[in-house]
Amino acid sequence: MFAKRFSELRPYVPGEQPKDRAYVKLNANENPYPPAPAVQRAIRDFDASALRLYPDPDARELRRAIASTLGDEVTEEMVFVGNGSDEVLSFVFYTFFDDDAPLVFPEHTYSFYPVYAGYYDIPVSRAPLAPDYSVDVDALLAKKSSGIIFANPNAPTGISLPLAEVRRLLDSYPRDRAVVVDEAYVDFGGETAIPLLREYGNLVIVRTFSKSYCFAGARLGYIVANPDLIRAVFTTKNSFNHFPVDVLTQRIGIAACSEAGYYTEINSRIARTRDSFAASLSGEGWKVLPSRANFVFARKPGVSGRAVYERAKAAGILVRHFDQPGISDFVRISIGTDDDMRRLLEALKGAWS
Ligand SMILES: Cc1ncc(COP(=O)(O)O)c(C=O)c1O
Repeated sequence: MFAKRFSELRPYVPGEQPKDRAYVKLNANENPYPPAPAVQRAIRDFDASALRLYPDPDARELRRAIASTLGDEVTEEMVFVGNGSDEVLSFVFYTFFDDDAPLVFPEHTYSFYPVYAGYYDIPVSRAPLAPDYSVDVDALLAKKSSGIIFANPNAPTGISLPLAEVRRLLDSYPRDRAVVVDEAYVDFGGETAIPLLREYGNLVIVRTFSKSYCFAGARLGYIVANPDLIRAVFTTKNSFNHFPVDVLTQRIGIAACSEAGYYTEINSRIARTRDSFAASLSGEGWKVLPSRANFVFARKPGVSGRAVYERAKAAGILVRHFDQPGISDFVRISIGTDDDMRRLLEALKGAWS
């Protein structure tokens, strides 16, 4: 009945979405604020009869709008869009990573990478993080590889790798192998690798509207890379699904790009909430990794991540913990509104002292 490859699938497990009561959701790194007013207007003005027709398979206007938010050096030909960055990552894995050597990524990073590697039969090798949990460029370079992928800022640590380190990695890596930098969280205070695109033709940057553009429910992700690489990803996309981004999402994506200032404002607010929340947790004796993302990765010495998760859940707040060696003491807490974070602090206060 089932194909042999099916029995070998090991699917990704997302943050839970329980429905037994109303929870404050701080477990999926969603944005607590609504999309820009222009997006709300575009939805209100949307003519449902536009759904009769297929969308533009090349999403030209949307790609042009995205390029316009990324500075003078990025053109529409350097942008590819897909159904969330998860789908975009799937195309990237299919297009660039081979099975002649392992794909290398940090030991702790976005847990979809090993899932896609399994899906496409790409061997993998995990490079240890540095003792301070930052991505270790030398460890990534230490092995022969068919490609490298990491998130910057990394997940679930939130730690950002300085641009000079990304450059050092690219300088030491063969130019005919892809280096993929997943910038899902860059808008919360990381350093983008976009200025390096002109020099490094093997650099592939993956981004999403889900986090900083408040679009997790709409599904829109993109790649920025040199036009030859983008054309290659189009070949992959057109061999799988010609129309990954629907008419409405293309429309509201364009609207979102017209109000980049709104997003800068709310994402700086999230960064401020993050920093004051991290300071409060530290004041309560927690160890908090320095985050440049819209979440913090933290542990209370002597308490398991699961115990923290359970305590928060009992108070109606969902956080994420990972039953994985090396990080099982931590919880990953998404940054919500100031009020969400106050409620969580209240729930955790004095619990284990
Ligand atoms: C590092 C990283 N990359 C990509 C994604 C996928 O985002 P989406 O498919 O919503 O664009 C996530 C989601 O949590 C993530 O943490």
